[in-house]
Amino acid sequence: MKVVAIVGSIRKDSYNLQLAKQVQTRFAEQFEVEILDLAPLPMYNQDIELEAPQEVLDFKAKVKEADAVLWVTPEYNSTIPGVLGNAIDWLSRVDKVMIGKPSIIMGSSMGILGSVKAQMHLRDILFAGGLGSPVLGGNEVYVGAVHEKFDAEGNLTDEGTIQFLDGVIANFQDWMRKYYV
Ligand code: FNR
Repeated sequence: MKVVAIVGSIRKDSYNLQLAKQVQTRFAEQFEVEILDLAPLPMYNQDIELEAPQEVLDFKAKVKEADAVLWVTPEYNSTIPGVLGNAIDWLSRVDKVMIGKPSIIMGSSMGILGSVKAQMHLRDILFAGGLGSPVLGGNEVYVGAVHEKFDAEGNLTDEGTIQFLDGVIANFQDWMRKYYV
């Protein structure tokens, strides 16, 4: 199984990137995770969507080839960050690569709510909002106070979170095997 991870923060020390890397390394024997870089994507513009820049075509090709998408996002101003919305806009047009593509959502924040509002919005956008992506139900991963749960080297050290993540990934794999791969 091949999964691409789309992270809603492009900053170098992003906790959400660290969370995506945690999934990538901890479950490396079960499935492959490629973390996609959103930084090269230009701002979506309908004027250029039919002749989209190569960065967009490459990004969409990777999503298209994947069996599933892992979304890992912070919350900005009570919703998803602009970089994530921009990536979604590109994915939603012309070659609509998310239709029927399964998704799993996670996220973190330094506050206690762990990006819950952003994730609720993302779930709605992906499934109900027209992208046509079935999202793993339940299994909601809200990593609050994230700065206390990773060490300086970017390793997840919080035992409760690690165990919860193990359960969610097991459920994700069961769901994928049952319906998609
Ligand atoms: C934030 N942050 C934030 N946190 C939150 O819980 N709810 C929110 O609405 C917001 N809004 C917000 C807006 C902007 C512009 C910034 C820069 C930050 C805090 C945010 O969750 C925190 O900075 C995370 O650490 C960002 O994720 P990464 O970059 O570490 O992955």
